[in-house]
Amino acid sequence: MENPTPLLVQQLDALLANEKNSIANLANASALLMDTLLDINWAGFYLFDKNANELILGPFQGKVACMHIALNSGVVGKAYATKQTIIVPDVHAFPGHIACDSASNAEIVIPIVVNNQYYGVLDIDSPSLDRFSEQDAKTLEIFVTTLASHLAEPL
Ligand code: SME
Repeated sequence: MENPTPLLVQQLDALLANEKNSIANLANASALLMDTLLDINWAGFYLFDKNANELILGPFQGKVACMHIALNSGVVGKAYATKQTIIVPDVHAFPGHIACDSASNAEIVIPIVVNNQYYGVLDIDSPSLDRFSEQDAKTLEIFVTTLASHLAEPL
């Protein structure tokens, strides 16, 4: 039997049901994650800026963060460039990791696809080593797919 849709994803779909503005939807998606997930200190988005050919900070919850990330830089740039979810159990052991909040010890980054185009990534940080599991990755990939259905064209 297939897994039922996770409650977090049902909440997201209900929250965004009547809104077409992508910035508003990304903002509330980050607030929902920050409110719901335990033991995280940053949740938000980096969006692909095709004119600059880099990732630019989008809506988020948490401490101030770096605003421009080059493709292939850090966990964010690497997840975007490789189009793969990346789970980092210990950010200090990840070559090229970009430290925004010194409290962060683990991270997960999931690419976002809107209308077959790579739109950006969801990035979540935790103060706890090894915070994110393969199950978390599966749930967050479903979360991102649902979110993408509430987003308009890339920037
Ligand atoms: N640590 C990320 C940068 C973004 S912050 O975590 C918000 C990275 O290495 O790409």
